[in-house]
Amino acid sequence: MIINLLSQDLKTVTKNQKDGIYVTFSFSGEDKEKTTNIVNKELHGRLEKSLSSKLITGKTYETAIYREFNFSLFSHVVVIGLGKKSEFSHEVFRQALSCVYDASKSLKAEDVFVDLNDLHLKKHAPEFVKAAVEGLELTSYDFTELKSKKAKPGSIKSAKKVTSEEDQELQIHLLLNEAKSNEVKLAFEEGLILAQAVNFSKYLGDMPGNLMTPTILAEKTLEAIKGTKIKATVWDKARIAKEKMGGLLGVSMGSTQEPRFIILEYTGAAKSQKPIVYVGKGLTFDSGGISIKPSAGMEEMKYDMCGGANVIGTIIAIAKMKLKVNAIALIPSTENMPGPSATKPGDVHTSRNGKTFEINNTDAEGRLILSDALVYASEQKPELIIDAATLTGAMVVALGNIHTGYFTRNKNLKAQIEKAAEASGEWVWNMPLCDYHVQDMKGTFADLSNMSSGKGAGSATAAAFLEQFVDEGIPWAHFDIAGTGWAAGNRLKYCTKKGATGAMVRTFVELAKSYQ
Ligand code: BES
Ligand code: ZN
Ligand code: ZN
Repeated sequence: MIINLLSQDLKTVTKNQKDGIYVTFSFSGEDKEKTTNIVNKELHGRLEKSLSSKLITGKTYETAIYREFNFSLFSHVVVIGLGKKSEFSHEVFRQALSCVYDASKSLKAEDVFVDLNDLHLKKHAPEFVKAAVEGLELTSYDFTELKSKKAKPGSIKSAKKVTSEEDQELQIHLLLNEAKSNEVKLAFEEGLILAQAVNFSKYLGDMPGNLMTPTILAEKTLEAIKGTKIKATVWDKARIAKEKMGGLLGVSMGSTQEPRFIILEYTGAAKSQKPIVYVGKGLTFDSGGISIKPSAGMEEMKYDMCGGANVIGTIIAIAKMKLKVNAIALIPSTENMPGPSATKPGDVHTSRNGKTFEINNTDAEGRLILSDALVYASEQKPELIIDAATLTGAMVVALGNIHTGYFTRNKNLKAQIEKAAEASGEWVWNMPLCDYHVQDMKGTFADLSNMSSGKGAGSATAAAFLEQFVDEGIPWAHFDIAGTGWAAGNRLKYCTKKGATGAMVRTFVELAKSYQ
């Protein structure tokens, strides 16, 4: 798929209109009495029957397709519902454009003209253009690499490579008179970079454990950052041991796969400016280790590296957008397996800062590998630390797959996160973290236990454990993406049903923007 931005409208468009598709939108009435409004006035007139018979109601994501309708120079017409005008947002639009993509596919279209002019976006044009591009590009993601009819391997360079082959014929033209404004052009480019970065994160997540080991994760990352200003360093097992990363090393002991510690550095501002450090859990397969998980659903634990994948996507997007910030992404990566040398319940390991922990359940491994990464992050004297991890099943219970729960004790950072999520269109929810949670993580034989001594609040106690490895005074937030990291397609039109979502990439990039 190729997306174009044209400073044209219905009357002036001349490009490839033969067999082209015209897409416009409809709003539903604010209450039962008020009627549906199709934003293109001419079409509103021609579709009176559909309106009176309620074939078109304007409700969100309703897709009405009129084949051989011969409207203006176009053969087919598509009307997408946007819901109530008072509730219209860029996130509604992002999802509506997902419907445009689906309709284009069902019509086997080559040229689709999406008319944004009648929406009268005015000063909001940049954010809606960005949302439109994201909605289309995110929806075009299709993980086909492992089907025998092969697509090319996933790559950040071209979204085409992670979309299906037939998709390459499709051209979607966004019609907007203000398309030549610099702000609109920038928003278009940013939307594309961001969505392609999210699609790359999804690709890493969707790859199964045997084909996305820590070594492969590092290799794929090195490949993806080619052409950007990101500097990469990858530590192998020997180096990880030398660096005293006892958490990461301890978790890796049950696996034949070597662990990796991936360091990605982007310098977009003066060297003196403190970096934003992103940390992501890169557990390429979590069997639970000796405290093995039940077999039902265990295959989903290939997604336990989505935190890592998503901070990789984040820093790639930041670099491609050339944001004027310094950013670092750290990904501790390993498998959690029950091999003969595996960590046993009761074992004690030492993290990079010298704190010891007893492993009372080997399935609570994410916090152990993150402990070393957070200590390393603190050593970078950062502006702030943000981590993302599929950390606890308790988070899935608490918030499901709609909101990503985040923990921070820093009020300023909380406000910045809320603002960033508002701008990105992702849903976040602030979760509690207090000293009682910390108390629950005290160890009997070591400084800390990796299991809470209390009942419940498993996500908060996990966060309290992580907090022990962040230097005091550094603003820090932990995002538990266990519920939102994959299988959100029943909520979000631009996500696949079962696959990885790239959750928080958009919000994390938005957060970086506020530090420019
Ligand atoms: N990777 C899992 C958390 C997880 C579970 C994410 C389900 C997504 C869906 C993590 O390593 C884990 O197993 N956590 C345990 C911790 C417990 C043993 C304290 C959990 O949540 O059950
Ligand atoms: Zn686990
Ligand atoms: Zn895990």
